[in-house]
Amino acid sequence: MTDNPEAQDANAGISVIAPIPRVAIHVFCESPSLAGMVENAAADRRMQKAHVVIRMGGVRAALAAYREEQTPEVIVLEAGGDSGLFLDDLDGLAEFCDDGARVLVLGRINDIKLYRALMARGISEYLVEPFNVLDFVRAISELFAKPGGNPLGRMIAVYGAKGGVGASTVAHHLSWSIANSLDMAVILVDLDLPFGTAGLNFNHDPLQGIAEAVFSPDRLDTNMLDRLMTKCADRLSLLAAPATLGRNYDFNEEAFDGVMELLRGAAPVVVLDIPHMWTAWVRRLLLNVDELVLVAEPDLANLRNVKNVLDLLGPARSNDAKTKLVMSRVGVPKRPEIGLKEFTTSINLTSSCVVPFDPKLFGEAANFGRMVGEINGGVKFAELFLNLGRSLTGRPELQTSKKGSLIAGLKATKLPFKLSRKS
Ligand SMILES: Nc1ncnc2c1ncn2[C@@H]1O[C@H](COP(=O)(O)OP(=O)(O)O)[C@@H](O)[C@H]1O
Ligand SMILES: [Mg+2]
Repeated sequence: MTDNPEAQDANAGISVIAPIPRVAIHVFCESPSLAGMVENAAADRRMQKAHVVIRMGGVRAALAAYREEQTPEVIVLEAGGDSGLFLDDLDGLAEFCDDGARVLVLGRINDIKLYRALMARGISEYLVEPFNVLDFVRAISELFAKPGGNPLGRMIAVYGAKGGVGASTVAHHLSWSIANSLDMAVILVDLDLPFGTAGLNFNHDPLQGIAEAVFSPDRLDTNMLDRLMTKCADRLSLLAAPATLGRNYDFNEEAFDGVMELLRGAAPVVVLDIPHMWTAWVRRLLLNVDELVLVAEPDLANLRNVKNVLDLLGPARSNDAKTKLVMSRVGVPKRPEIGLKEFTTSINLTSSCVVPFDPKLFGEAANFGRMVGEINGGVKFAELFLNLGRSLTGRPELQTSKKGSLIAGLKATKLPFKLSRKS
C-alpha cells in the first residue's frame, strides 16, 4: 500500500469499482508497455477472481488462437496503427467468437468514426489512451455491471493494530459523523460477534443483526437485511453483533460474501467494525474494502502490526486510496510513547487523524450510549472524526467559521438529561 503514494492519493474519493467475477480474460497486446499495464491490473484486488492471460501479437494472434480454442468471456485487443486493417481482422475474428464473449478494444486513436465502426461490430467498449491501471480495471468491471443496477456503496473497514486500541470507538464515531454531518446514509456493521459494543455505544439493544444474516445465507435478501438493521440516528443504521456466547463463531473465508454484496447495494457508505483477530474471513474483508482505516496506539507492538498488515495487503491494494492511519489514545499519562513522526515515517504513511487519550470523555460517552460530539467538551473530538469521514468519502473540507472553529457541520442532537450542553 505504500508502493505508489501519488497514484493512491489521486485515487482518493474515486467511484467504487465492482470486483470482476470469476471469468477468463484473454488480452492480446501489441506493445510491451501495455502488457506491463495489464500485468499490474491483473494483480489488483478487484481482479483476483478473474483468470487473466496476456499474449503478444494483437488481433492477429487472437485470430490464430480462436481458430483452435474456445473464446473466453472477455477478449481484450490492443489496436495497432492501421484502423482499416484492424477492422478487417476484427471481422475475421467475429466468425470464431462465441456469442457471449465481450470484446474490449484498447487504442491510441481518438476518432468518432472508428468508435462507431467498433460499436457497429458489437465491441463492448473502446478505451483510448491515456488510461491507467484503474481505468482498465473499471472498463472490465463495467462489462459485467447489471443494467439499471444500484450504484455501489463505498465500503470502509476499521481495524485495530491491537485489541483495545479504540478501533470500534473510531468506527462508531466515524459512522455517526458521516451520517449526521455529511448527510449520507451509513450502515455500520459490528463484526465482533461475541463481544461487539456498537449496540451499547448507540444505546440500542437489537434482537437481530449480523448473526442472522451470516447464519442464514439461503434466506438472505434485501428485505431480510432491512429487517435485521436497527436505526441508530437519522441516516445511520446498525447491523448489530449478538454479543452473546451461546454459539461458536467459526466462519469460513467466504461466509460474509453474500451479506457484503447486499450491503454494497444498500447504502452509499458501509462501515465495517472488524475485531482484532486474524482469520481467513477477516483477511478477505480487509483485502476487499474500498477504504482501509488502521487504528493504532503509539507503541512498538502496534507499529510492528501495522507494518505487517500493510506488507501483506499491499500488492493487491496498490491501486487503491492510501490506507488511513488513526493514532488513537495518544498521550496516556506517564506512558512512554513513540513519537508521531517516528511512527509514521517508518511505515511511510501519514496519520489521517490523531485522537488524544481522554478517558473521562470517552468513558462518559460509552456509559451513556452517546457519541462524544453529543456531550459537553466533545465537539473538538467530533471534528476529528468528521474530517476523517470527509477524507474517506471524498467530500470537500469544511469552511472555517468566523470563530475559527470547524463545528459548522456538526448538528447538535437531543442530549440525555444529565449531560445537556451548556449554552
Ligand atoms: N481516545 C480515547 N481516550 C480514552 N479512551 C478511549 C479512547 N478511545 C477509545 N477509548 C476506550 O478504550 C476502550 C477500548 O476501545 P474500543 O473502541 O472498544 O477498542 P477496540 O475496538 O480496538 O478493541 C473503550 O473503553 C473505549 O471507551
Ligand atoms: Mg472493537
